[in-house]
Amino acid sequence: MEQLSIRTPDDFHVHFRDQEMLPETVAASARCFGRAVAMPNLVPPLTTAEAVLSYRKRLRGSRPQGSSFEPLLTLYLTDQTSAETVRLAQQAGVVAAKLYPAGATTNSNSGVTALEKIYPALEEMALLAMPLLVHGEVTAAEVDVFDREKVFIEGVLGPLVKRYPELKVVMEHITTADAAQFVLAGNARIAATITPQHLLLNRNDLLVGGLHPHNYCLPVLKRNTHQQALRQVVKSGSRKFFLGSDSAPHERSRKESACGCAGCYSAWSALELYAQVFDELECLDKLEAFASENGADFYGLPRNPGTVTLRREHWTVPEQIILPNGRPIVPFFAGKEVRWKVQAV
Ligand code: DOR
Ligand code: ZN
Repeated sequence: MEQLSIRTPDDFHVHFRDQEMLPETVAASARCFGRAVAMPNLVPPLTTAEAVLSYRKRLRGSRPQGSSFEPLLTLYLTDQTSAETVRLAQQAGVVAAKLYPAGATTNSNSGVTALEKIYPALEEMALLAMPLLVHGEVTAAEVDVFDREKVFIEGVLGPLVKRYPELKVVMEHITTADAAQFVLAGNARIAATITPQHLLLNRNDLLVGGLHPHNYCLPVLKRNTHQQALRQVVKSGSRKFFLGSDSAPHERSRKESACGCAGCYSAWSALELYAQVFDELECLDKLEAFASENGADFYGLPRNPGTVTLRREHWTVPEQIILPNGRPIVPFFAGKEVRWKVQAV
C-alpha cells in the first residue's frame, strides 16, 4: 500500500502549554488532527470552568488562519475539586477531568493527594458520563519508577473502578503489559490511550549508548516485553485503545539539563509514526479505528467529517524547531527518518 486515506483523526492527549508557545503547538496538531484534548497542567493549573474557558479562547486564537481545528478542554482535579465545580465545567463544554496524583509529573504538585478527597467529584462525573483521565502512577518514594504503573493499577485504579463501575475512565499513556491487560479485562467504560514513543521505543532507547533526554517521558519507557505487549494490543484492533500522543514540549535547555524535564514533543510526526508502527505490524487497516473512531466513540463525540491522506514517503524530522520566543526545541524523533507523510490539503 502506497497511500492511505482515513477519516480525520483526533489526538486525545496533548500538552499545548500556553502563551508564546501556542502558535507553534496548536499549528503542529492542527496540521492533521480535527480535535485534540488539551491537558490542564499549566501554571497555574486549570481548576475551574472559568480558567478552562479562558484557555480555550487562547487556544482557538492561536489556530492557523482558516483552520477548523477544535481544542477539547479538561479540568485539573485537586483535593478541593467539588461536584459543583465538575458540573459547572461540564456546562461550560469541558469534556473530561484529569487526575494527576500529586507529584507524579510536570506541574502535578496541586494534584490529588488521596482519592477519598474527590469522591463527590467522581460521583458527579459518573452521573454526567464525564470521562476521568488518569495519570496512572503512584508517587511513593519507595516504589521503583519502573513499577509505578503496575502498583497504581493494583492499589488505586482497580479499587476505583470497582467502587464506581459507571465511571468512564481513560488510563492515559499506558506503558505496560499489566495496563493493557487491565483495560482489556475491564468493563466497556475503561479505555486507554497509547503514545507513539511507547509503541516505538523501550527503555534501552533511553539508557543505552548514553542518556537520551529527548526519549524521556513519564510514565518512563519500560522494558521491551512491555513495548511488544502494547504493539500486540493495537494490532488486536480492540476498540478500547485509541490515539493520545502526549505531545509534551519543553525547550531544549530544559531537556538537555542536569535535571531534565519529562516529555516528548511529537506533534510534528505523531500520526506518521503511528502509521509506521501499524505498517510494521502489518495492520494498517486498524489505523483508522485507533486514530479516528475509538476515542470519539468512547467520549461520546461525533466522528470527524473529512479525511486525511498519508503517503509512503521518506522524510527526516527536523533537528530542532525555533519557538516564537527564539528558543529552540528538539522534536521527538529529531534527525530520524519517518516512512509515512501526511499530505497537505
Ligand atoms: O512526559 C510527560 N510530560 N508526562 C507527563 O505526564 C506530563 C508531560 C508534561 O506535561 O511535560
Ligand atoms: Zn501528558
